[in-house]
Amino acid sequence: MFNKRTKIKDVLVLTPESQEVTVMGWVRSFRNNQFIAINDGSTNSNLQIVAELGRFDDELLKRITTSASLKVTGTLVSSLGKGQKMDLQASSIEVLGDSDAERYPIQLRNKPTLEYLRENAHLRFRTNTFGAVFRVRHALAFAVHKFFNDKGFVYMHTPIITASDAEGAGEMFRVTTLPLDKTPTTPDNVIDFKQDFFGRSTHLTVSGQLEGELGATAFGEIYTFGPTFRAENSNTARHLAEFWMIEPEMAFYDLEDNMNLAEEFIQYLIRYAMENNRDDLDFLAQRLAEEEKQLPQDKRGEMGLIEKLEFVINNSFERLTYTEAITILKESNHNKKKKFQFPITGWGMDLQSEHERYLVEKHFKKPVILHNYPAAIKAFYMRQNEDARPAEGLGQTVAAMDILAPGIGEIVGGSQREERLDKLEARMKEMNIPSDELWWYLDTRRFGTVPHAGFGLGFERMVQFVTGMTNIRDVIAFPRTPGSAEF
Ligand code: 4AD
Ligand code: MG
Repeated sequence: MFNKRTKIKDVLVLTPESQEVTVMGWVRSFRNNQFIAINDGSTNSNLQIVAELGRFDDELLKRITTSASLKVTGTLVSSLGKGQKMDLQASSIEVLGDSDAERYPIQLRNKPTLEYLRENAHLRFRTNTFGAVFRVRHALAFAVHKFFNDKGFVYMHTPIITASDAEGAGEMFRVTTLPLDKTPTTPDNVIDFKQDFFGRSTHLTVSGQLEGELGATAFGEIYTFGPTFRAENSNTARHLAEFWMIEPEMAFYDLEDNMNLAEEFIQYLIRYAMENNRDDLDFLAQRLAEEEKQLPQDKRGEMGLIEKLEFVINNSFERLTYTEAITILKESNHNKKKKFQFPITGWGMDLQSEHERYLVEKHFKKPVILHNYPAAIKAFYMRQNEDARPAEGLGQTVAAMDILAPGIGEIVGGSQREERLDKLEARMKEMNIPSDELWWYLDTRRFGTVPHAGFGLGFERMVQFVTGMTNIRDVIAFPRTPGSAEF
């Protein structure tokens, strides 16, 4: 059997007593023709291998270059050197794959920037920073499933290709097999999607919510966790064209139940990472502290990463209505001194991320849940509150909630859903959402409708929050953004 290896993570917890161990991994550094730091991705820590002078051929030693892959067998002994507890005294070293040191793009001694590593995303997992980020990402993904499984939610796979625009924002990528140069047209000269693969116009999904509601109104509680796609031309550190979203949807929940679940969920994820990935988080905390040293004083975070995560676990989120938030923003010195790029014009305006971040970072200094937004700036499916627009029989506000996190801004968006067929149809009509195409969605309101609610957590924004990475492109393996789809 080839793969009789011990992972370095498991080696490093052993008590060295000259036992034989085989490890495999990639060379991080080779010093004095004798000390090899090897890493296998199981942990941020390297194992030091000692290739005793004179024991190995020069030909072999020359091949031990940065990122060459090795299989090493040896005995584990207490280390004499400082910085590590143990050494692996090599008895055999096999080079599994050579690495041309001159051409290897990631020269750690040059301190590659995050931007440079993004251009070399195929190899960036081999750095400490990205090793830590993607192990934490894995742990958070696992914790998502654990959280909902332990609560008895059903994991539902909603479709990637869809004919409906769940958010009604029209930011969708088309899916088609029609030839781009010779699209078939109807007699009145519009593209004839009847001839397309699905016999209709289709897109990549922006959200699994509508299908999730079908599940919730049968299983009671479901969640989705999958990729979603948005063709919004936002070149920011918080937007991706392809991102992963977790969308729980629960029957018999109102807005308050929904907020409670979302808050508990976020705190659970952080706690899980703190308990299971402490080494990686400590490393990332140090990395962030060093990064922040380069910033002017007022741009630095008030807390270190670990301190911030502990704070979020141990303090409940601030809850207030959109209306209260507008008042706070309007009265703020920041607004009075015209420091917002978008001034606070008054009730009804959509909040920009600078406003959200002011509330979270300057005013409350903790995560905030804003709820009961104006209907006009929210999606069609949100439940109308009883604050009258009597002429239309609809509400002024809807039972929506957004969770805003320090350093990130919006991390969760959700709502109680409109379960009353007449109100939902009236709202769809008002917003020009074609109800004939959503007949299947409306059927849940026809056959045993129930109060229900749900939310979407942007997974990458959550990973950003936990790892302290400032750019969302650094927490997804292969980011898709406007103008960029390498790898
Ligand atoms: O607020 P959004 O658009 O809500 C929905 O899609 C609802 N259907 C969710 C639901 O109620 N089931 O998106 C939800 C979250 C945002 O709060 C944000 O964290 C993330 O998804 N998100 C993005 N993350 C990265 N890149 C983008 N372009 C994102 N757009 C939204
Ligand atoms: Mg939103």
